[in-house]
Amino acid sequence: MAQQYDLVVIGGGPGGYEAAIRAAQLGYKVACIEKRVHNGKPSMGGTCLNVGCIPSKALLDSSHRYESTQHDLQAHGISTGDVSIDIGTMQARKTKVVEQLTGGVAQLLKGNGIDWLQGTGKLLAGKKVEFVSLDGGEAQTLEPKYVILASGSVPVNIPVAPVDETLGDKAVIVDSTGALAFDQVPATLGVIGAGVIGLELGSVWRRLGSQVVIFEALDSFLPMADKALAKETQKVLTKQGLDIRLNAKVTATEVKDGKVVVKYNQAGEDKEQTFDKLIVCVGRKPYAEGLLSEDSGIKLTERGFVEVDDQCKTSIDGVYAIGDLVRGPMLAHKAMEEGVMAVERIHGHAAQVNYDTIISVIYTFPEVAWVGLSEEAAKEKGIEVKTGQFPFAVNGRALAAGEPAGFVKFVADAKTDRLLGMHVLGSNAGDMVHQGMIALEFVSSVEDLQLMTFAHPTLSEAVHEAALSVDGRAIHA
Ligand code: FAD
Ligand code: NAI
Repeated sequence: MAQQYDLVVIGGGPGGYEAAIRAAQLGYKVACIEKRVHNGKPSMGGTCLNVGCIPSKALLDSSHRYESTQHDLQAHGISTGDVSIDIGTMQARKTKVVEQLTGGVAQLLKGNGIDWLQGTGKLLAGKKVEFVSLDGGEAQTLEPKYVILASGSVPVNIPVAPVDETLGDKAVIVDSTGALAFDQVPATLGVIGAGVIGLELGSVWRRLGSQVVIFEALDSFLPMADKALAKETQKVLTKQGLDIRLNAKVTATEVKDGKVVVKYNQAGEDKEQTFDKLIVCVGRKPYAEGLLSEDSGIKLTERGFVEVDDQCKTSIDGVYAIGDLVRGPMLAHKAMEEGVMAVERIHGHAAQVNYDTIISVIYTFPEVAWVGLSEEAAKEKGIEVKTGQFPFAVNGRALAAGEPAGFVKFVADAKTDRLLGMHVLGSNAGDMVHQGMIALEFVSSVEDLQLMTFAHPTLSEAVHEAALSVDGRAIHA
């Protein structure tokens, strides 16, 4: 191939495309290889833009508006008559949002002089990259100075509930991609896994009218979250109508007459229930199929992740790996920052992702968000902790908006007053938690937050009050 590149990025998800853009900004000649075809067209943006973050949030927004219009407006004196939703229109809006963003990324690449090579990339020995175009043709070999592997992840499949991708709309057992594309509301919906996808997509279809049952194998709910946060979240989501069954292991499924019978064991008792659709969302696994030749020299971990150090360097000099393909949380913002870090490192800058301040958000309503250590994790580390919590139920702005659910909680070091974690359940938690992230990055003490002036009336006043309550000083509690 005539064109030689400084950097070849394999994978055009949030990790890959951000790495490509940052490298182009720094003056590198870059190619980004992406093989995804979405709705019949080659598409940039990876899982996140095509079948992940963005379409799920589009549906969360539509379904929230629908539910809120039905139930929340009367209190304001607003009557609407019968409220209905056209699922086709809702899905078409989702597709438009996805296309706007994936098209936008393609334009950004073009504007930065990056070549989007549409097809499959494979790392060969000696840091070479084989490229096979989507439209066939002979494989080409590229010899870049640097390579970034960013091939992302795919859903985990479980033998007891096989997802049949070949059935398209007719599939009864689906993964998250199928669950984003239902063309009608299933009257009954089973979900395996009470993780992030189960709660978000379970909420979407419940709001639109499905009766949703979530089967979770573990006996605890959101075990990675602060216990108080998980407990209140479970209470709120259950009250909304999500039937969350813990300690419930699905042992078999049977598709019969267009429905699915789910057999499960809950706390030692065998039971079964029939659903119109079943979503399997039991986690995701790194995707490296066809990515590496046998002699590429890249090491994989037992679980199939590409082995990297803290700066995303692989075992081969000049080859980096980022995002869902490597250790750490499978989140778009983590992938993006790793992409930028890898490029900055290539350029000789001492960039570093702070893995201690990666934010988690679950986009239910209210939202669930946290950053830093939970109370339990801090105690496990042997830290003497102090905590403070403030409910939105006594926050003026939350009451004015009719959104009183949830609270802000801080976890701090009792000896040094250093802030360790922030945990929020609330209508705007995903945005609000960034205050905690910034405070953690600046190694803030609780007193720092206590001494700041927060605007009135805002939801953020609950942040101030939660900080004050760490020392028993909250004014409105
Ligand atoms: P990906 O986005 O998976 O992109 C990798 C790309 O590489 C793919 O497009 C693939 O086609 C391509 N590729 C793979 N192999 C090759 C090859 N050999 N040659 C060429 N191309 C290749 N995260 C959040 O932070 N917030 C959210 O709200 C959120 N919501 C989500 C909702 C759902 C339903 C799902 C499934 C995920 C969600 N995620 C969310 C997770 C997020 O999508 C991922 O963490 C993120 O996309 C990872 O980015 P990545 O760049 O590592 O990989
Ligand atoms: P997850 O890891 O969040 O949750 C999976 C759940 O399934 C866990 O609670 C697990 O205990 C349970 N489980 C596993 N095997 C099971 C079985 N056989 N039967 C019953 N339950 C079982 O994974 P999920 O929801 O599939 O999401 C994958 C990833 O995608 C997330 O971890 C996250 O990284 C990313 N994501 C992020 C979002 C966000 O940031 N808002 C939204 C959606 C996905």
